[in-house]
Amino acid sequence: MSLQLLTDFSLFGYNTFGFDARARYAMHIGSADAAASLATDARIAGLPHFVFGGGSNLVLTRDFDGVALIVGIAGRRVVAEDRDAWLVEAGAGENWHEFVAWTLANGMPGLENLALIPGTVGATPIQNIGAYGLEMGERFERLHAVELATGARVVFDREACAFGYRDSFFKRDGRGRFIITSVVFRLPKAWTLRADYADVARALEGAASPNAQAIFDAVVAVRRAKLPDWKVLGNAGSFFKNPVVSVQTFDALKAREPGIVSYPQADGQVKLAAGWLIDRCGWRGRGIGGTAVHDRQALVLMNRGGATGEQVLELAEAVRRDVRERFGVELEIEPVCL
Ligand code: EPU
Repeated sequence: MSLQLLTDFSLFGYNTFGFDARARYAMHIGSADAAASLATDARIAGLPHFVFGGGSNLVLTRDFDGVALIVGIAGRRVVAEDRDAWLVEAGAGENWHEFVAWTLANGMPGLENLALIPGTVGATPIQNIGAYGLEMGERFERLHAVELATGARVVFDREACAFGYRDSFFKRDGRGRFIITSVVFRLPKAWTLRADYADVARALEGAASPNAQAIFDAVVAVRRAKLPDWKVLGNAGSFFKNPVVSVQTFDALKAREPGIVSYPQADGQVKLAAGWLIDRCGWRGRGIGGTAVHDRQALVLMNRGGATGEQVLELAEAVRRDVRERFGVELEIEPVCL
């Protein structure tokens, strides 16, 4: 039986900015078999397609004249266990935060620093989600995907994913070519505390020997305090990447702006806090029309209600221009724009 083809489909509930764009067609993909059947589905042959997870890293700038593929593949299970680790698999459509909570509840810690990140499991490898001292890539074992053009099933190991800072193969050469159907994580049995991030350390003050659940609770509290809830105020988390500059550029900036927030990188370059740069340009809490820069974290742009993707991009352009003029630093937009 072929999949149901929906027409003139509202994407309002499928992007955390809450933009009211429509897709010409949409299909719900509930299994890897369904994903594989798309390659031979004559109804959608030749049409552009876009894979939707939770839509939490997405800016819809207009209606989409193609097929929205909405991935709802469910399931979570331990697939293997050895002396050192559990291998845990989750369907691409599982909610990420609920999956993290489930691993903890079942005695398999390791993902707690990534609590409360919106979106689905299948989306996490695409931008290699990271927060509070951990990147998903560090806990990644492999992923299962279907190549859209051929319907072939493919397995990607960590090397094939080419993870970087908010980056992977799926944002580059692999863009638009695959549907991720499930992801397998390696959760080491020897748990190590990651609580160096200042906000998390502060939230843990007083805890004698924090366990994974304490980290989870601290991360949830920090995120709730700093980041707007997309269900109340549409947003896609950080709107820009933290820019990485050479040490020479950094030294020159530091001489002018002694308070600049920076993180030295392993390769000798220096990562700057884009939120600080934007804040310093006076953008925190300001906006244009129905859009705004968040008043507690300037890296987050918001839809205050009724804004369009184009308007958020206009705001982003104004912010980028000011940061460029004041600091000579180029900000790169982090979410995917469609
Ligand atoms: N800062 C300001 N003003 C602001 C915002 C930030 O001065 O308006 C300063 C903060 O005081 C701090 C520094 O900038 O010293 C960094 O801010 P924060 O700790 O909030 O982290 P971030 O670098 O802005 C990154 C990730 C977040 C992640 C946090 C925690 C990126 C693009 N963003 O933000 O990820 O949750 O660190 O690890 O790397 C996301 O990708 O969507 C996301 C939310």
